[in-house]
Amino acid sequence: MKQRSFILLLLCFVLITSAITSVSAEAQCMNSGIYISNSTFEANLPRILSFLPSNVTAQDDFFYSGSIGEEPNQKVYATGMCIPGSTSGQCSVCIKTASDDLLQSCPGQVEAYKWATEPTLCYVRYADASFLGSLDADSNNLVYNPGDSNSNLIEFKAIWDDLVVRMIAAASKAKSTPSSSDNHYTVDVAALTPSQNLYALMQCTPDLSSGDCEKCLQHQSCCGQRQGGVIMKPNCYFRWDVVAFYKVFDNISVAYRPPPPSDGSRKMSTRVIAAIVVPIVVIIIIIIIVVLIIRRSALLCWKKKPFQEFDFSQSGISAVRSLQFDFKAIEFATDKFSNKLGQGGFGEVFKGTLLNGTEVAVKRLSKTSSQGALEFKNEVVVVAKLQHKNLVRLHGFCLEGEEKILIYEFVPNKSLDYFLFDPTKKGELDWTKRYNIIGGITRGILYLHHDSRLTIIHRDLKASNILLDADMNPKIADFGMARIFEMHQNGANTNRIVGTRGYMPPEYVMHGQFSTKSDVYSFGVLVLEIICGRQNMFVHQADTTTVENLVTYAWRLWRDGRPLELVDSTISENCQTEEVTRCIHVALLCVQHDPTDRPDLSTIDMMLTRNSLNLPLPQTPGFFFPNRRSYREQDGIVSIQSTITSNSYTNNDLTITDLEPR
Ligand SMILES: *[C@@H]1O[C@H](CO)[C@@H](O)[C@H](O)[C@H]1NC(C)=O
Ligand SMILES: *[C@@H]1O[C@H](CO)[C@@H](O)[C@H](O)[C@H]1NC(C)=O
Ligand SMILES: *[C@@H]1O[C@H](CO)[C@@H](O)[C@H](O)[C@H]1NC(C)=O
Repeated sequence: MKQRSFILLLLCFVLITSAITSVSAEAQCMNSGIYISNSTFEANLPRILSFLPSNVTAQDDFFYSGSIGEEPNQKVYATGMCIPGSTSGQCSVCIKTASDDLLQSCPGQVEAYKWATEPTLCYVRYADASFLGSLDADSNNLVYNPGDSNSNLIEFKAIWDDLVVRMIAAASKAKSTPSSSDNHYTVDVAALTPSQNLYALMQCTPDLSSGDCEKCLQHQSCCGQRQGGVIMKPNCYFRWDVVAFYKVFDNISVAYRPPPPSDGSRKMSTRVIAAIVVPIVVIIIIIIIVVLIIRRSALLCWKKKPFQEFDFSQSGISAVRSLQFDFKAIEFATDKFSNKLGQGGFGEVFKGTLLNGTEVAVKRLSKTSSQGALEFKNEVVVVAKLQHKNLVRLHGFCLEGEEKILIYEFVPNKSLDYFLFDPTKKGELDWTKRYNIIGGITRGILYLHHDSRLTIIHRDLKASNILLDADMNPKIADFGMARIFEMHQNGANTNRIVGTRGYMPPEYVMHGQFSTKSDVYSFGVLVLEIICGRQNMFVHQADTTTVENLVTYAWRLWRDGRPLELVDSTISENCQTEEVTRCIHVALLCVQHDPTDRPDLSTIDMMLTRNSLNLPLPQTPGFFFPNRRSYREQDGIVSIQSTITSNSYTNNDLTITDLEPR
């Protein structure tokens, strides 16, 4: 029994080591179609491929593209290419090997390509239609150099990211002389440690435009955790490894720069010790794991792929790692913060595109938070776990020096205020859309308050924090900012007022008390704004001390039995009066003065969805100004102007007098 285990163990190791040494490059049959046997196409294909070695080496830049045969159905297009620095002999052998392999591996296929690696790097592609100059974005063949685990993943990833960003820029840049042999080709080296380098090569076929080359080389941010790997696509190639390959790095030298804040030899020596100890420990652990696995089931080793990754995703460290972005990568993604989308309460927002093509909104936080790095990371991980279709998703963060950056899902249709308070755009939001938006916001806050395990109080719900996706579904933004900015989340008093004038309930403005019921108040204001199409703001009457805002206006109309007069004139013709009335009723329940009278979100959700439910009568709303004497309920005069803009307060110099009407 013991002997058998040992033999199996040995076999596993043989498998592992043999797979490490070959980063295999297989022919990629593209499944574009099958040609007819005994057709002219079938005869033409091996003919053009057999010319290819001499045709490619006849070109100065080792790039050849040609075709033979007549349209339709007979013409074969083929391209061959070797990397700069190859000799004619190497190139010719490589192209021939690749062509032979394509014919053998892809019988009957009208389109296929291969990146061959012996004795140099070369590329052959053929098809029944011209592919010159066009990018095939879908195909992606990713091969890892398996088996490596890095001793210092975070540092490796940072160096890898940096190198990749630099190289994509270099490879995609058009050369001044288009025919030069190194067009869309680049090799580079980065030092990982004093004794170890990271080598990389990128190449696009020279027929691509700069933009297409860049697109082709972009990929998932997956690969930085492996010490070696290859991405092969019909139009480009990217390989990296910790050992030099293809003999193309001879003339590139690189000096190791220790990371900046290192405290001398002590740090160095721990680094060296780590470099020695960690791999040994890892190997021992791997051996133990392999032995354990074999013990449990001797056959498992054969059935499973040998290099399946262990899933560490539950651990906090890997959660942080997967969310953390390099500042350089963010700079690259946002083109050096050039495309500003807006200015939020916590900093500027920019549009960006990640290496894998995902569009993101990047929020560069203003440098006012005193929070430490660890707390910041922890809170980001917590907030990133909140996922709901009515919440803007947090993809990750970047933390480097003074910079604190949050990376969010990009939501295309701007924010609710952009439509709602614009005289021409508000027409795009008919009642059905507005009702859907109210429902979506309700479910988003319900999730934050009740369903997310943590009770997250938003504290700054307002129209500009409701983003709209392409189908006008609402997504709540900026939730969790109180956590990220280290403000106490538990209903206690706060001396730091966050929020926006007009949405804050009286107990918050006057006593700094907040709870989920403060969000309920803001929600009520928001619903009234959606129905009315106007902002809740103060209007100072010049001649009297009377003041009225949207909340008090709605309340007065309700009490007078004519709530429908509140409805935005652009939608009042075509709306479900029953739904509208119910929404106004619920909103007035939300803005009641006493927080305990306000319904919670699960009740609100039921009130809005179940028409049969009898709603309680609303009490007097909580007014937004502290000086009650100055408000006389009886003689309110309505004058709401949508030209006044509201201000955000994120500092603690907001005082009661600031809000007092004159
Ligand atoms: C192809 O041609 C050969 C020789 O002419 C013939 O023997 C064979 O049957 C043909 N195959 C098909 C599928 O037509
Ligand atoms: C490709 O090679 C073949 C055979 O050597 C030759 O006849 C043909 O002219 C070459 N084509 C080009 C474009 O050089
Ligand atoms: C390196 O430099 C030498 C001398 O300049 C040159 O002959 C050789 O081709 C270069 N090698 C590469 C891979 O560029």
